[in-house]
Amino acid sequence: MSERIVVIGSCNTDMVINTERLPRPGETIIGGNFFMNAGGKGANQAVAAARLGGNVCFVAKVGNDHFGSHSIEQYKAEGIDVEQISIENELPSGVALIMVDNKGENCISVASGANSLLAPKDIDKAEGMITHGDIVLMQLETPIETVEYAARIANGKGKKVILNPAPALPLPDALFEELYMIIANETEAEFFSGVKITDMDSVCRAADIISNKGVDNVVITLGSKGAFVKENGAYHKVPSIKVKAVDATAAGDTFCGAVCVALAEKKDILEAVEFANRCAAVTVTRMGAQSSLPYREEVEKDFFVEQHK
Ligand code: RIB
Repeated sequence: MSERIVVIGSCNTDMVINTERLPRPGETIIGGNFFMNAGGKGANQAVAAARLGGNVCFVAKVGNDHFGSHSIEQYKAEGIDVEQISIENELPSGVALIMVDNKGENCISVASGANSLLAPKDIDKAEGMITHGDIVLMQLETPIETVEYAARIANGKGKKVILNPAPALPLPDALFEELYMIIANETEAEFFSGVKITDMDSVCRAADIISNKGVDNVVITLGSKGAFVKENGAYHKVPSIKVKAVDATAAGDTFCGAVCVALAEKKDILEAVEFANRCAAVTVTRMGAQSSLPYREEVEKDFFVEQHK
Protein backbone atom coordinates (compact mmCIF):
# COMPACT_ATOMS: atom_id res chain seq x y z
CA MET A 1 0.00 0.00 0.00
CA SER A 2 1.22 3.52 -0.78
CA GLU A 3 2.04 6.04 1.94
CA ARG A 4 -0.80 7.79 3.74
CA ILE A 5 -1.79 11.31 2.70
CA VAL A 6 -3.37 13.63 5.28
CA VAL A 7 -5.16 16.59 3.71
CA ILE A 8 -6.00 19.45 6.08
CA GLY A 9 -8.25 22.11 4.59
CA SER A 10 -11.52 23.54 3.41
CA CYS A 11 -14.69 22.13 1.97
CA ASN A 12 -17.21 24.25 0.08
CA THR A 13 -20.26 23.82 -2.04
CA ASP A 14 -19.68 25.65 -5.33
CA MET A 15 -22.47 27.64 -7.03
CA VAL A 16 -21.33 28.00 -10.61
CA ILE A 17 -22.61 30.14 -13.51
CA ASN A 18 -21.20 29.94 -17.02
CA THR A 19 -20.89 33.33 -18.68
CA GLU A 20 -19.69 34.55 -22.07
CA ARG A 21 -17.22 36.79 -20.23
CA LEU A 22 -16.59 37.75 -16.59
CA PRO A 23 -18.52 40.89 -15.52
CA ARG A 24 -16.71 44.15 -14.71
CA PRO A 25 -17.20 45.74 -11.24
CA GLY A 26 -20.74 47.15 -11.01
CA GLU A 27 -21.89 45.36 -14.15
CA THR A 28 -24.75 42.83 -14.43
CA ILE A 29 -24.57 40.35 -17.26
CA ILE A 30 -26.92 37.55 -18.25
CA GLY A 31 -25.11 34.27 -17.74
CA GLY A 32 -25.74 30.77 -19.02
CA ASN A 33 -26.23 27.56 -17.07
CA PHE A 34 -26.16 27.33 -13.30
CA PHE A 35 -24.97 24.25 -11.46
CA MET A 36 -24.03 23.26 -7.95
CA ASN A 37 -20.99 21.14 -7.30
CA ALA A 38 -18.80 19.93 -4.46
CA GLY A 39 -15.70 22.10 -4.07
CA GLY A 40 -13.27 23.70 -1.62
CA LYS A 41 -9.53 23.53 -2.18
CA GLY A 42 -8.94 21.07 0.67
CA ALA A 43 -11.76 18.77 -0.36
CA ASN A 44 -10.84 18.96 -4.05
CA GLN A 45 -7.26 17.95 -3.24
CA ALA A 46 -8.42 15.12 -0.98
CA VAL A 47 -10.86 13.78 -3.58
CA ALA A 48 -8.32 14.17 -6.40
CA ALA A 49 -5.76 12.17 -4.42
CA ALA A 50 -8.32 9.47 -3.54
CA ARG A 51 -9.52 9.09 -7.17
CA LEU A 52 -5.91 8.79 -8.30
CA GLY A 53 -5.34 5.88 -5.94
CA GLY A 54 -4.11 7.65 -2.79
CA ASN A 55 -4.71 6.45 0.74
CA VAL A 56 -6.30 9.67 2.01
CA CYS A 57 -7.67 11.10 5.25
CA PHE A 58 -9.17 14.56 5.49
CA VAL A 59 -9.17 16.97 8.44
CA ALA A 60 -11.84 19.63 7.99
CA LYS A 61 -14.86 21.37 9.44
CA VAL A 62 -18.39 21.66 8.04
CA GLY A 63 -21.58 23.29 9.28
CA ASN A 64 -24.50 21.43 10.81
CA ASP A 65 -26.50 21.59 7.57
CA HIS A 66 -27.34 19.68 4.41
CA PHE A 67 -24.21 20.85 2.54
CA GLY A 68 -22.00 19.61 5.37
CA SER A 69 -23.60 16.19 5.80
CA HIS A 70 -23.83 15.66 2.03
CA SER A 71 -20.13 16.53 1.63
CA ILE A 72 -19.09 14.03 4.30
CA GLU A 73 -21.15 11.29 2.60
CA GLN A 74 -19.49 12.08 -0.72
CA TYR A 75 -15.98 11.91 0.76
CA LYS A 76 -16.82 8.55 2.33
CA ALA A 77 -18.01 7.30 -1.04
CA GLU A 78 -14.63 8.34 -2.49
CA GLY A 79 -12.92 6.12 0.08
CA ILE A 80 -11.58 9.01 2.19
CA ASP A 81 -11.16 8.60 5.96
CA VAL A 82 -13.55 11.25 7.37
CA GLU A 83 -12.97 10.50 11.07
CA GLN A 84 -11.48 13.96 11.64
CA ILE A 85 -14.12 16.04 9.87
CA SER A 86 -16.02 17.82 12.61
CA ILE A 87 -19.47 19.40 12.48
CA GLU A 88 -19.77 22.97 13.71
CA ASN A 89 -23.01 24.48 15.00
CA GLU A 90 -21.88 28.11 15.03
CA LEU A 91 -21.44 28.70 11.30
CA PRO A 92 -22.80 27.15 8.09
CA SER A 93 -20.75 25.05 5.67
CA GLY A 94 -18.48 26.94 3.27
CA VAL A 95 -19.89 28.12 -0.04
CA ALA A 96 -18.12 29.46 -3.14
CA LEU A 97 -19.66 31.59 -5.90
CA ILE A 98 -17.90 30.94 -9.18
CA MET A 99 -18.23 32.41 -12.65
CA VAL A 100 -16.56 30.69 -15.59
CA ASP A 101 -16.15 32.45 -18.95
CA ASN A 102 -16.03 30.91 -22.41
CA LYS A 103 -12.20 30.67 -22.30
CA GLY A 104 -12.37 28.56 -19.14
CA GLU A 105 -11.12 31.37 -16.88
CA ASN A 106 -12.93 31.81 -13.58
CA CYS A 107 -13.39 34.17 -10.68
CA ILE A 108 -14.27 32.85 -7.25
CA SER A 109 -15.50 34.34 -4.00
CA VAL A 110 -15.67 32.12 -0.90
CA ALA A 111 -17.88 32.47 2.19
CA SER A 112 -15.67 30.40 4.48
CA GLY A 113 -18.27 29.64 7.16
CA ALA A 114 -17.25 26.60 9.23
CA ASN A 115 -13.86 26.43 7.46
CA SER A 116 -12.87 29.57 9.37
CA LEU A 117 -13.31 27.68 12.66
CA LEU A 118 -10.81 24.89 11.94
CA ALA A 119 -8.51 25.50 14.90
CA PRO A 120 -5.25 24.19 16.39
CA LYS A 121 -7.35 22.11 18.80
CA ASP A 122 -8.74 20.23 15.78
CA ILE A 123 -5.16 19.47 14.79
CA ASP A 124 -4.52 18.17 18.32
CA LYS A 125 -7.54 15.87 17.89
CA ALA A 126 -6.14 14.69 14.58
CA GLU A 127 -2.65 14.11 15.95
CA GLY A 128 -2.97 10.32 15.77
CA MET A 129 -3.95 10.60 12.11
CA ILE A 130 -0.97 12.85 11.42
CA THR A 131 1.33 10.46 13.28
CA HIS A 132 0.18 7.59 11.06
CA GLY A 133 0.40 9.76 7.94
CA ASP A 134 3.40 10.30 5.70
CA ILE A 135 2.52 13.37 3.64
CA VAL A 136 0.52 16.33 4.95
CA LEU A 137 -1.07 18.60 2.33
CA MET A 138 -2.57 22.02 3.18
CA GLN A 139 -3.86 25.18 1.51
CA LEU A 140 -4.84 28.63 2.84
CA GLU A 141 -8.66 28.51 2.97
CA THR A 142 -8.53 27.69 6.68
CA PRO A 143 -7.03 29.93 9.40
CA ILE A 144 -3.32 30.57 9.01
CA GLU A 145 -2.58 29.86 12.70
CA THR A 146 -4.01 26.37 12.16
CA VAL A 147 -1.91 25.83 9.05
CA GLU A 148 1.21 26.98 10.91
CA TYR A 149 0.41 24.81 13.92
CA ALA A 150 -0.26 21.72 11.80
CA ALA A 151 2.92 22.30 9.77
CA ARG A 152 4.98 22.51 12.96
CA ILE A 153 3.44 19.35 14.43
CA ALA A 154 3.72 17.36 11.20
CA ASN A 155 7.26 18.46 10.36
CA GLY A 156 8.25 17.76 13.96
CA LYS A 157 7.07 14.19 13.40
CA GLY A 158 9.17 13.94 10.25
CA LYS A 159 6.26 14.09 7.79
CA LYS A 160 6.56 15.66 4.34
CA VAL A 161 4.58 18.90 4.67
CA ILE A 162 3.35 20.31 1.35
CA LEU A 163 1.67 23.71 1.13
CA ASN A 164 -0.44 25.01 -1.73
CA PRO A 165 -0.51 28.70 -0.72
CA ALA A 166 -3.91 29.43 -2.24
CA PRO A 167 -5.45 31.92 -1.93
CA ALA A 168 -2.19 33.84 -1.43
CA LEU A 169 -1.81 35.84 1.75
CA PRO A 170 1.21 37.02 3.74
CA LEU A 171 2.88 34.10 5.50
CA PRO A 172 5.35 34.09 8.40
CA ASP A 173 8.86 33.05 7.32
CA ALA A 174 8.83 30.36 10.04
CA LEU A 175 6.11 28.49 8.13
CA PHE A 176 8.31 28.07 5.03
CA GLU A 177 10.94 26.38 7.17
CA GLU A 178 8.48 23.64 8.10
CA LEU A 179 7.77 22.78 4.44
CA TYR A 180 9.10 19.97 2.32
CA MET A 181 7.50 21.50 -0.76
CA ILE A 182 5.45 24.49 -1.86
CA ILE A 183 3.22 24.24 -4.93
CA ALA A 184 2.25 27.74 -6.11
CA ASN A 185 0.72 29.03 -9.30
CA GLU A 186 2.24 31.97 -11.20
CA THR A 187 0.22 34.60 -9.30
CA GLU A 188 1.05 33.09 -5.93
CA ALA A 189 4.74 32.75 -6.81
CA GLU A 190 4.80 36.44 -7.80
CA PHE A 191 3.07 37.33 -4.53
CA PHE A 192 5.60 35.47 -2.37
CA SER A 193 8.71 36.45 -4.31
CA GLY A 194 7.88 39.97 -5.50
CA VAL A 195 9.17 38.91 -8.97
CA LYS A 196 6.99 39.39 -12.06
CA ILE A 197 7.15 36.08 -13.92
CA THR A 198 7.64 36.65 -17.63
CA ASP A 199 10.21 34.06 -18.70
CA MET A 200 12.48 31.25 -17.49
CA ASP A 201 14.92 33.69 -15.90
CA SER A 202 12.21 35.37 -13.79
CA VAL A 203 10.66 32.05 -12.76
CA CYS A 204 14.10 30.89 -11.54
CA ARG A 205 14.51 34.13 -9.57
CA ALA A 206 11.03 33.74 -8.03
CA ALA A 207 11.80 30.14 -7.05
CA ASP A 208 15.17 31.18 -5.55
CA ILE A 209 13.52 33.81 -3.36
CA ILE A 210 10.87 31.34 -2.18
CA SER A 211 13.35 28.53 -1.54
CA ASN A 212 15.62 30.95 0.35
CA LYS A 213 12.79 31.35 2.86
CA GLY A 214 13.59 27.79 3.90
CA VAL A 215 11.48 25.47 1.74
CA ASP A 216 13.33 22.54 0.19
CA ASN A 217 11.40 22.11 -3.05
CA VAL A 218 9.51 24.74 -5.06
CA VAL A 219 7.00 23.89 -7.78
CA ILE A 220 5.45 26.71 -9.80
CA THR A 221 2.56 25.80 -12.07
CA LEU A 222 2.45 27.92 -15.22
CA GLY A 223 -0.92 26.90 -16.71
CA SER A 224 -0.70 26.23 -20.42
CA LYS A 225 3.10 26.80 -20.19
CA GLY A 226 3.63 23.73 -18.00
CA ALA A 227 5.32 23.62 -14.61
CA PHE A 228 8.65 24.68 -13.12
CA VAL A 229 10.51 22.77 -10.42
CA LYS A 230 13.40 23.84 -8.20
CA GLU A 231 14.64 20.77 -6.40
CA ASN A 232 17.91 20.44 -4.47
CA GLY A 233 19.18 23.60 -6.14
CA ALA A 234 18.49 22.36 -9.71
CA TYR A 235 15.94 23.94 -12.07
CA HIS A 236 13.63 21.95 -14.35
CA LYS A 237 10.82 22.85 -16.73
CA VAL A 238 8.12 20.24 -17.23
CA PRO A 239 6.23 20.88 -20.50
CA SER A 240 2.48 21.38 -20.58
CA ILE A 241 0.00 19.09 -22.26
CA LYS A 242 -2.15 20.74 -24.90
CA VAL A 243 -5.88 20.23 -24.32
CA LYS A 244 -9.00 22.29 -25.02
CA ALA A 245 -9.73 24.01 -21.69
CA VAL A 246 -13.35 24.57 -20.73
CA ASP A 247 -12.94 25.34 -17.01
CA ALA A 248 -9.72 25.85 -15.02
CA THR A 249 -11.51 25.36 -11.66
CA ALA A 250 -9.69 22.81 -9.46
CA ALA A 251 -6.83 22.27 -11.96
CA GLY A 252 -4.38 23.43 -9.27
CA ASP A 253 -6.11 21.21 -6.70
CA THR A 254 -5.83 18.20 -8.98
CA PHE A 255 -2.15 18.96 -9.50
CA CYS A 256 -1.50 19.08 -5.72
CA GLY A 257 -3.43 15.87 -5.02
CA ALA A 258 -1.62 14.13 -7.88
CA VAL A 259 1.85 15.20 -6.72
CA CYS A 260 1.08 13.71 -3.29
CA VAL A 261 -0.14 10.42 -4.77
CA ALA A 262 2.99 10.07 -6.91
CA LEU A 263 5.28 10.91 -3.98
CA ALA A 264 3.33 8.44 -1.82
CA GLU A 265 4.13 5.83 -4.49
CA LYS A 266 7.82 6.74 -4.10
CA LYS A 267 8.11 8.45 -7.48
CA ASP A 268 10.65 11.26 -7.64
CA ILE A 269 9.60 14.92 -7.79
CA LEU A 270 9.96 15.29 -11.56
CA GLU A 271 7.94 12.15 -12.21
CA ALA A 272 5.33 13.42 -9.74
CA VAL A 273 5.06 16.76 -11.55
CA GLU A 274 4.84 15.09 -14.94
CA PHE A 275 2.00 12.88 -13.62
CA ALA A 276 0.29 15.90 -12.02
CA ASN A 277 0.44 17.85 -15.32
CA ARG A 278 -1.44 15.03 -17.02
CA CYS A 279 -4.05 14.90 -14.26
CA ALA A 280 -4.62 18.68 -14.27
CA ALA A 281 -4.91 18.61 -18.07
CA VAL A 282 -7.90 16.26 -17.76
CA THR A 283 -9.53 18.48 -15.12
CA VAL A 284 -9.52 21.59 -17.35
CA THR A 285 -11.38 19.75 -20.09
CA ARG A 286 -14.44 19.36 -17.83
CA MET A 287 -16.73 21.71 -15.93
CA GLY A 288 -16.73 22.15 -12.17
CA ALA A 289 -14.48 21.23 -9.27
CA GLN A 290 -15.01 17.70 -7.94
CA SER A 291 -17.13 16.87 -11.01
CA SER A 292 -14.00 17.32 -13.13
CA LEU A 293 -11.39 15.40 -11.11
CA PRO A 294 -9.94 12.43 -13.00
CA TYR A 295 -9.78 8.76 -11.99
CA ARG A 296 -6.48 6.90 -12.15
CA GLU A 297 -7.27 4.90 -15.28
CA GLU A 298 -7.87 8.12 -17.26
CA VAL A 299 -4.38 9.42 -16.56
CA GLU A 300 -2.29 6.30 -17.02
CA LYS A 301 0.22 7.36 -19.68
CA ASP A 302 -0.77 5.08 -22.57
CA PHE A 303 -4.49 5.66 -22.13
CA PHE A 304 -3.98 9.43 -21.78
CA VAL A 305 -1.78 9.71 -24.87
CA GLU A 306 -4.34 7.71 -26.90
CA GLN A 307 -7.22 9.99 -25.74
CA HIS A 308 -5.39 13.28 -26.29
CA LYS A 309 -3.47 12.79 -29.54
O1 RIB B 1 -9.68 25.69 -6.28
C1 RIB B 1 -11.03 25.70 -6.63
C2 RIB B 1 -11.88 25.87 -5.40
O2 RIB B 1 -11.66 27.15 -4.85
C3 RIB B 1 -13.36 25.81 -5.65
O3 RIB B 1 -13.87 24.50 -5.60
C4 RIB B 1 -13.93 26.73 -4.60
O4 RIB B 1 -14.71 26.10 -3.63
C5 RIB B 1 -12.74 27.45 -4.00
O5 RIB B 1 -12.40 26.94 -2.78
